[in-house]
Amino acid sequence: MLGKLDEIRSKAIDELSSIGDLRGLEDWRVRYLGKRSALTQALRVLAELPLEQRRGVGAVANEVKAILERSHRQKKEALKEKAYQQMEAAVKFEKIDVTLPGRPIPLGRLHPTTQVLRQICDIFLSMGFQVVEGPDVEWDYYNFEALNIPRDHPARDMFSTFWIDVETPSGELPMLLRTHTSPMQIRVMERTRPPVRVVVPGKIYRYEATDATHETMLYQIEGLAIDENITFLDLKGTLYEFARCLFGSQRKVRFRCDYFPFVEPGVEMAIDCFACGGSGCRLCGGSGWIEILGAGMVHPDVLRRVDYDPDIYTGFAFGMGVERIAMLTYGIEDIRLFYSNDLRFLRQF
Ligand code: DAH
Repeated sequence: MLGKLDEIRSKAIDELSSIGDLRGLEDWRVRYLGKRSALTQALRVLAELPLEQRRGVGAVANEVKAILERSHRQKKEALKEKAYQQMEAAVKFEKIDVTLPGRPIPLGRLHPTTQVLRQICDIFLSMGFQVVEGPDVEWDYYNFEALNIPRDHPARDMFSTFWIDVETPSGELPMLLRTHTSPMQIRVMERTRPPVRVVVPGKIYRYEATDATHETMLYQIEGLAIDENITFLDLKGTLYEFARCLFGSQRKVRFRCDYFPFVEPGVEMAIDCFACGGSGCRLCGGSGWIEILGAGMVHPDVLRRVDYDPDIYTGFAFGMGVERIAMLTYGIEDIRLFYSNDLRFLRQF
């Protein structure tokens, strides 16, 4: 054993002297000090030697290790110094044109969806909401069932769903790509007690033929606020403030009745068209109003399902499509542009 250690040491030192660059040095380090080196192996079998041998051999092995490490350090310093001197010499004697322009470093930027997503989240953060995220692959229970959309409920027709090919024993498909961010309402309420104030940005999926206004994957932002004494007035005030932060302080909003199974009452919110000021143009389809989100007061059955007492707690929820809002703000006319990776499009933002 002692002979072997000595052999390792002299071979290593020998080889070290002929190494001329840092890469060679690194190979040497791996060979002689690395995990699989003979020295490391030797240190490992030490434990199996009888005690009196172990002490002597151990001391030598550790000394060899220390010598190799020190030599490695010194060699590294020397090589670095040498490289530096070579560079200095090159700058002095060779012709390096330091006035040549540098190579441009291409700068990335945020995708327009990300930019709008962040703007929206920032607005709600400033109003005391928290940002949380959830899974893209969801259970039927969270995506539909817990949101008052049982199997065979006609409201399922509103969502063209990508089902995951996993069957329950009874032949049902319990898993899907979430069709909206609303399932996170349930997940958040299941794990917290009121007060709740969250917004949930995330991807959603719909099994759809794509065209200028339909994509199979897009982003939504969901919002949920639950507390004692939350009324429809809070819903209106919060969403009105949001609309004015995002689309300008002059905006008017319009609420109209709409149906979503998990809220009661349900509404859609529109803003007056910022392009024509409400007189009617191409952007607003001549109506003067642009619908931007769905919302409502959380349905008591939804609250009961997560053990919130609807006699004590009330709240509102809302959901909006992020690309739609980006399209409105930037005047983008085809939703397919967002994810077709065309740099001519993306570089504009
Ligand atoms: N999840 C709905 C959709 O994708 C949007 C929505 C409507 C969300 C009303 C809500 C809400 O939270 O209250 O069409």
